[in-house]
Amino acid sequence: MKRVITYGTFDLLHYGHINLLRRAKAQGDYLIVALSTDEFNWKEKQKRCYFSYEERKMLLESIRYVDLVIPESKWEQKRTDIHEYHVDTFVMGDDWEGKFDFLEEEGAEVIYLPRTPEISSTQIKSDLKNKTASARKDIS
Ligand code: CTP
Repeated sequence: MKRVITYGTFDLLHYGHINLLRRAKAQGDYLIVALSTDEFNWKEKQKRCYFSYEERKMLLESIRYVDLVIPESKWEQKRTDIHEYHVDTFVMGDDWEGKFDFLEEEGAEVIYLPRTPEISSTQIKSDLKNKTASARKDIS
């Protein structure tokens, strides 16, 4: 069985995430998602999530392409995860192109998939904020 792993925050799950997960699963038979914890997001990525870790985990577990969700709580865990979860292939979106090539030293194949254009959690948050602001202006 070929095992694939990918990492991310997956807040406000959107079709760009689904596209990534579908193509990641297609690289093998078993897909593990290492999901950034709320603390890791805040401390390391300065990202405040709309959905909590448990909520994001439940959403991911409901997706047919996802077999297992584990927590991502530090940058360095990638090397050990590869051995602990017997990972064959490491997949990330191409916004991370080249950043994780060193994992080949651990025996994993490293693949960067093209991002789906024009959608991101940050974009959704900002669009909703702007819509709310312009709706408020319309009312007043
Ligand atoms: N991803 C993708 N296409 C998108 C958005 C995300 O392929 N349009 C991929 C990322 O490259 C990553 C995974 O989905 O491999 C999880 O990305 P994440 O950072 O959680 O999603 P974003 O929507 O990019 O979130 P943010 O705007 O907060 O960075």
